[in-house]
Amino acid sequence: MTELSPAVAPGTGTGTAGTADPEALRERAVASLVVARDRTTLLTSCVEEPDLTAQHSPLMSPLVWDLAHIGNQEEQWLLRAVAGQEAIRPEIDSLYDAFEHPRAERPKLPLLAPAEARAYAADVRARALDVLERAAFDGTRLTEAGFAFGMIAQHEQQHDETMLITHQLRTGPPALTAPDPEPVTLFTGPAEVLVPGGPFTMGTSNEPWALDNERPAHRREVAPFFIDTTPVTNAAYQAFIEDGGYTEPRWWAPQGWAHIRAHGITAPLFWRREGRQWLRRRFGVTEVVPAQEPVVHVSWYEADAYARWAGRRLPTEAEWEKAARHDPAGNRSTRYPWGDADPGPEHANLGQRHLRPAPAGSYPAGESPLGVRQLIGDVWEWTASDFLPYPGFKAFPYKEYSEVFFGPEYKVLRGGSFAVDAVACRGTFRNWDYPIRRQIFSGFRTARSQDA
Ligand code: AVJ
Ligand code: FE
Repeated sequence: MTELSPAVAPGTGTGTAGTADPEALRERAVASLVVARDRTTLLTSCVEEPDLTAQHSPLMSPLVWDLAHIGNQEEQWLLRAVAGQEAIRPEIDSLYDAFEHPRAERPKLPLLAPAEARAYAADVRARALDVLERAAFDGTRLTEAGFAFGMIAQHEQQHDETMLITHQLRTGPPALTAPDPEPVTLFTGPAEVLVPGGPFTMGTSNEPWALDNERPAHRREVAPFFIDTTPVTNAAYQAFIEDGGYTEPRWWAPQGWAHIRAHGITAPLFWRREGRQWLRRRFGVTEVVPAQEPVVHVSWYEADAYARWAGRRLPTEAEWEKAARHDPAGNRSTRYPWGDADPGPEHANLGQRHLRPAPAGSYPAGESPLGVRQLIGDVWEWTASDFLPYPGFKAFPYKEYSEVFFGPEYKVLRGGSFAVDAVACRGTFRNWDYPIRRQIFSGFRTARSQDA
């Protein structure tokens, strides 16, 4: 088994976005790329070749596709777009174009074999580090503040999370292991926190590596609301199940009800009941579902139904971001719930240093000024909101990152999970997926309007 070790890219050290000098930026870009590649290497070397080329779920690509796709995106943006170089292997571009071939079809493509894919990604990386060594971080929007390098580090980390999902779906003996989070005493603080009404700044215009859908910063009016202090736990979710939650259509959105009936869904993905206990499979190991851990592997429909059963609702995306970024004392939005400092291990469970969420109430140093905990890391949190552009949105640098996905068929998730690296996670970061999806590391917290 392969031991995962903590790997955190060093920050600018200033804790303030956009003020780093070019050499500090270069160092940050190199470190972020190296951390991402270390993770990719681990995720693609901890299993034998057949497990790299197999499709472990029709929802996922073979791991070897992710590997070469990571290299191909890096080639397209850092070598071709930034440095103006010729394509290394123009014939493979279409194989690794996510829009040309749906995931289910990818195992049948004439993909690069594992050794070739590794060599290709390594070749691209060596050239990219060469480009980075000589890059000037101004002039064009692509290179300003090292954006393209940050975008590519985030892209690789996003696929590292995707590959970890593939590992979770894979059956057979465990290939990965990591230390558990520190145990904590049962959280006994207030169950919910009042977030005052009024305008706040949503999104960002000055976070240098923020992606297009996080921009621009704009004022948003939010009515006063209460939000759960921690994500919903397995214990709380089990109470919903035991109360017949999955057999009561009144808790479910009509499409959600139809979906769980058609697919026989009666519990979160990877759960199974044995006698009076719930067990779950996690990276190849079957274990008792831990009561105090945030629930993970639930769909938006399941989160929505639980919230209705609890007499509550999911927070909107704007409510979530206000809870995570609004600093009532400074009357401004911070980068993270704890302030502007880059995430450290005391703030949040990020970066695959643990292969599970931490118990509810962990990371007091990461709480928001209002006392909301674990907004960053642990589990992606479903929000009530559709994935839509902010006023003034401009696709950059390509429409296929965000723009083609805007619309009512995707729901927004916020806050990142234990599987996402700090470089791809911040108070403004937006993720999205179909409301039926639950192979992702998705959980939720609930809210209610103050006047409700
Ligand atoms: C932002 C996680 C929805 O995986 O589809 C990776 C990230 N975009 N390569 C995805 C992404 C292009 C994206 N999500
Ligand atoms: Fe991609």
